Amino acid sequence: STKVTKVLCIGAGYVGGPTCAVIALKCPHITVTIVDLNQARIDAWNSPDFKLPIYEPGLEDVVRACRGRNLFFSTDVEKGIQEAELIFVSVNTPTKKSGVGAGFAADLNYVELATRQIAAVATSSKIVVEKSTVPCRTAESMRTILEANSKPNCRFDILSNPEFLAEGTAIADLFNPDRVLIGSLQTPEGKAACSALADIYGNWVPKKQILTVGLWSSELSKLAANAMLAQRISSVNALSAICEATGANIDEVSHAVGYDSRVGPKFLKASVGFGGSCFQKDILNLVYLSESLHLPEVAAYWRQVVEMNEYQKRRFSKRVVDTLFNTITGKRIAVLGFAFKADTGDTRESAAITLIRDFQSERAFVNVYDPQVVEEQIWLDLSEASPASPLENIKKQVKICKSALEACKDAEAVVIATEWKEFKEINWSEVYKHMKKPAFVFDGRLLVDAQKLTDIGFKVTTIGRPALG
Ligand code: NAI
Repeated sequence: STKVTKVLCIGAGYVGGPTCAVIALKCPHITVTIVDLNQARIDAWNSPDFKLPIYEPGLEDVVRACRGRNLFFSTDVEKGIQEAELIFVSVNTPTKKSGVGAGFAADLNYVELATRQIAAVATSSKIVVEKSTVPCRTAESMRTILEANSKPNCRFDILSNPEFLAEGTAIADLFNPDRVLIGSLQTPEGKAACSALADIYGNWVPKKQILTVGLWSSELSKLAANAMLAQRISSVNALSAICEATGANIDEVSHAVGYDSRVGPKFLKASVGFGGSCFQKDILNLVYLSESLHLPEVAAYWRQVVEMNEYQKRRFSKRVVDTLFNTITGKRIAVLGFAFKADTGDTRESAAITLIRDFQSERAFVNVYDPQVVEEQIWLDLSEASPASPLENIKKQVKICKSALEACKDAEAVVIATEWKEFKEINWSEVYKHMKKPAFVFDGRLLVDAQKLTDIGFKVTTIGRPALG
């Protein structure tokens, strides 16, 4: 098969950046260029002091090793397309906000624009790889657009290569993936393109972990994988509600259930609800797909996974209000963590946003602290969550703090929203001294030792357990 030496990635985000930086590291013989329309993002990738636009453990080391050698970041999309032999399309595919399928279907506008630009600019043959998560059969639309616009002697082969990395462990996941999935047409040309991409991954991924399947199976497998992961969380969270009502302990139940080798121990942690840019979006996408295919029972089944997640967030906010004697008006609440999970600065669909919005609408004061999320991002997310409130009003109710201790000062309650390791290591006796009494802790991540905190004097409420103290 053809040996690829020039790779382009369109989209320098959470997926395109780390994925293609790792390809550059593992394949010194390949020149990798990552392009984006967002100048500020590209400037950050190129910044002399490596202040990268996304926080991901290990990422900086990879970029330091390759940038300027065989890894380049640029806004010149056209030049990138012209030079490349293989192009990853790694642009955003958010849930549609209006029009047909609003609230469910994926917005494929960015994928389509990138595809049309490839067709318009390319003067030689390209392998085009769909890296973004897309509904089933999107590759077919891409192929139609490319073929209708191609020039003589210019052929396009489309592959689907969904990304399974998890934010927070992206670099480790990319170094050592459970599997790499490549979907192609089962034609001789499709198979040749597939093996050209498999050869790139073959530089560091064992052959048996590179799975090659049909295009549609590949696209559907990504949606299916996220739906099944999210479903485990919603199943455990549904059980956590039963635990709180009965005195069972969700950690003990998860442990016992996960010991069954058919179930397995991972991804069974109860929490205030899943967040992130993918789970909800991809399930809604699957729901929309099922409905379009006239499979309403299938749609309802998957939709319930998202509904359970919304219920879990609502239930947690309500438990805070109930526990604080049915009112939090005028009370100060410290929210520890704003990112949707630990080890990332990403806040998309973070449970913290919903909780703070709920506390605001009860007219509480909120102190928020997160070790990675930048201030502007917090204001942006809170404004979006309460479109009716001007930012200056939000700023009267919410304060952004520089440390956990500062956030807890004079608060009546601490809410743990993100499982950052540093929250495990907080000096809780010190925190207790500076809080109003009775001092409450609400652990939305099963992070702290509830007994130890109770011994200090806190009244502790943990997801999936009756209250202590
Ligand atoms: P992102 O929003 O961080 O990055 C997308 C980038 O594409 C943006 O910087 C945007 O400016 C750029 N872009 C859009 N249209 C462009 C164009 N025509 N030309 C050049 N640049 C363009 O999104 P993220 O998180 O990287 O996700 C990308 C895709 O990967 C989505 O489909 C997502 O569902 C999927 N995915 C995301 C994962 C994650 O953990 N974030 C994991 C697996 C898949």
